[in-house]
Amino acid sequence: MDGLKRLEYRGYDSSGIAILDGNSIFSIKEVGKIVELEKKIGEKEIIGNIGIAHTRWATHGVPSVENAHPHTDCSGKIWIVHNGIIENYQQLKNNLQKKGHIFKSETDTEVLAHLIEDLYDGDLMMSVKKVLKMITGTYGIAVFHSDEKDKLIVSKKGSPLVIGVGEMETIVASDVSAILRYTKQVIYLEDGEIAEIDKNGFKIFNSNDEQLEKEISEVEWDLNQAEKGGYPHFLIKEILQQPETIMDSIRGRLIPEEGLAKLGGLFSEVERIKNIERIIIVACGTARCAALVGEYMLEEYAGIPTEVDYAHEFRYKKQILNDKTAVIVMSQSGETADSLAAVMEAKRKGILTIGIVNTVGSSIARETDVGIYNHVGPEISVASTKAFTSQISILSLLTIFLGRQRDMSLVTGQRIAKELLVLPEKIKKILESEDQIREIAQKYSGATSFAFLGRKYNHPVALEGAIKLKELSYIHAEGFAAGEMKHGPIAMIDENFPSFFITPQDSVYEKNISNMQEIKARAGKIIAIATEGDKEISKHADDVIYIPKALEMLTPILATIPTQLFAYHMAVIKGLDVDKPRNLAKSVTVE
Ligand code: F6R
Repeated sequence: MDGLKRLEYRGYDSSGIAILDGNSIFSIKEVGKIVELEKKIGEKEIIGNIGIAHTRWATHGVPSVENAHPHTDCSGKIWIVHNGIIENYQQLKNNLQKKGHIFKSETDTEVLAHLIEDLYDGDLMMSVKKVLKMITGTYGIAVFHSDEKDKLIVSKKGSPLVIGVGEMETIVASDVSAILRYTKQVIYLEDGEIAEIDKNGFKIFNSNDEQLEKEISEVEWDLNQAEKGGYPHFLIKEILQQPETIMDSIRGRLIPEEGLAKLGGLFSEVERIKNIERIIIVACGTARCAALVGEYMLEEYAGIPTEVDYAHEFRYKKQILNDKTAVIVMSQSGETADSLAAVMEAKRKGILTIGIVNTVGSSIARETDVGIYNHVGPEISVASTKAFTSQISILSLLTIFLGRQRDMSLVTGQRIAKELLVLPEKIKKILESEDQIREIAQKYSGATSFAFLGRKYNHPVALEGAIKLKELSYIHAEGFAAGEMKHGPIAMIDENFPSFFITPQDSVYEKNISNMQEIKARAGKIIAIATEGDKEISKHADDVIYIPKALEMLTPILATIPTQLFAYHMAVIKGLDVDKPRNLAKSVTVE
């Protein structure tokens, strides 16, 4: 149950367990978060030495007890949990139904249990292997058969799976955080590998049936990093952590006096990187907003044409690539299926792939050619905050790194490095405005729609501010490039439709002021995020949140923090589940 709770960020609409005790199987499932399952289990005594459990984020079929995992076959002897999606499940299900198999759920996963049953001839490993050859899609699975009492078969393709090597036990999970309490010794399974686990340990095979000797890795972080540590929510802990996490991302990676960035993870491809003439950054959601900041930085300071693509669109577009193109994939979890698919597509085309990933050992971290870790520790709350600011700081390191290989002067390199190093102090100052931001959230808590507006470097901050408010408070919010308002969206503005303006004193300040006046002229209320000392701004805005002055390219790191605090307090005021907003999952491991 403890391990399962640590995986709740992956999905939390229903959960279940199945434990094998001699001949009998104890299985229980419930709708809702893990605590609901816990309540249902109550005081029941569960004995067994093999078990599987799962927490679900619905893809096929509503959250219900029937659709919750583990799933079983007609005989009730085969039990399976599965992450990912079986794309050809309908066709397989039709065939199995014709053969008389009775299905109890609407899930794609249940097909696996029945297929194994259909092919089973006394050897679970063999039948699982056959089944895996028949399916298309992605999977991380764990399955047992009550006729093979102490055996668990696990395999993966496109979904993560890690084997924890304990002293007296072997524990498999889709993320190390679930097993960290029991062991730090882990083996990451690769796509197509399959493992047989029993009381003596485990054997791992590749897709050619050859037994593998895989390296055991030691996990570097510990459980304290995954605890709330006295804060009411992980989200506020992670927001308030940002002065330290920004430092953790840049520590040891700058040589300020030489205006250089030192990125060890890129060394093995340094020659190819020197020749890059075009960059495509692929990411989803909040990570994509950070990527958009990177686009401005890399073009302005490194002089490299850069574009940002939704990871889920990248594969479906005709890409015009050559050997001087690099694809940067940015992902907090390192497991986002869409982003991983983009990596695989770029690799297939022989393009250099660079990962910017927070989760060490994750699929994207392992699949990309080279990479830079964020090093901000586990981000538990579903809404991404500290990873976002870290992603921008890593992109600024990369901008220095690539820029200094090209035209960037020593002085510019030194200036960016110096400005990066003082960010933590500036973030601390912004965090002191938390009470003021809470009051502003209270004042606007009756609003049902918000616009977030910004230009140039802060256009992505506006997009990200809108994502944060939507996902945390369920209030409709849209982010726009401020200049876009007059081309249509301004029609929505009236006294009940407030706008958040990200308007620091930068190269587009005057333009922002004009756009604010356009909103004011239509009775729209304005909350401005402005530079300390800007007295002019209060003539145009109803409420002002100040941030310290910074180099224009780094202002997004500062300007985003008030929007995070605003969304957090709005969710608290509305009494919502801050760390686990409805309908979401922390790591979206399905396409
Ligand atoms: C929003 C949020 C998501 C993620 C997106 C990508 O707060 O967290 O939009 O940014 O799902 O996730 P990663 O970075 O894990 O690839």
